[in-house]
Amino acid sequence: MRMRWPERCLLSTRWRGWLLRKVEVPRVLESLHLPHQPVCLEIGCGNGIGALVVSQWLRPARLTCVDYDAPMHDKARKVLAHPPQWARDVETSRIDLVRGDATRLAFPDGRFDAVFLFGVLHHIHQWPAAIAQVYRVLKPAGVFVFEEALMGSSRVLANHFWRHVPFDREELQAVLRETGFNVERFEATLAGIWCFVHARKPG
Ligand SMILES: C[S@@+](CC[C@H](N)C(=O)[O-])C[C@H]1O[C@@H](n2cnc3c(N)ncnc32)[C@H](O)[C@@H]1O
Repeated sequence: MRMRWPERCLLSTRWRGWLLRKVEVPRVLESLHLPHQPVCLEIGCGNGIGALVVSQWLRPARLTCVDYDAPMHDKARKVLAHPPQWARDVETSRIDLVRGDATRLAFPDGRFDAVFLFGVLHHIHQWPAAIAQVYRVLKPAGVFVFEEALMGSSRVLANHFWRHVPFDREELQAVLRETGFNVERFEATLAGIWCFVHARKPG
């Protein structure tokens, strides 16, 4: 679903970049165990800042970033071509930008060690289909690492203006388990409206 313009503007601010870099990515990567130089995917990469932060933390062999929105894609291309000062050590040649839909990923089964996603599922009507795709493209024992908004208990937040898709903690956990994931970490925060999750595909 296309984002409303205020959200697009918010995502392009320094504030959003700071939050990803200093708070969200470090917190979601906490206690994560991955092979050396993992092959990774980020879904809904927005302007590409998340890709730079993940690359700085994990030094992946390859990081593929998917977003279906053309303007966001263009922004990401520019950011990766001219990374901000703090990301100058990132080998951007290891990052591939791809336009695509999370519910129909064009990658073979079992391709990735880890799939990341930062605040994207609540933009996808068919979010259980996106979770099924993540499961398909992960290697056995691969891990789905994400942070997400839980707005099921507050439908007002997910109103028509923002075009957000409301689901709650129970619905999200049930879909992860029904898809086949073992939920290793599920940390709800901000009075239960946000969560940090590690869900592993059985080995
Ligand atoms: C709230 S933004 C988050 C962007 C970035 N991850 C961040 O944290 O700044 C959601 C992103 O998901 C993308 N998106 C929404 N639905 C998608 C879909 N079905 N497939 C791929 N990307 C999608 C949007 O274009 C947007 O860039």
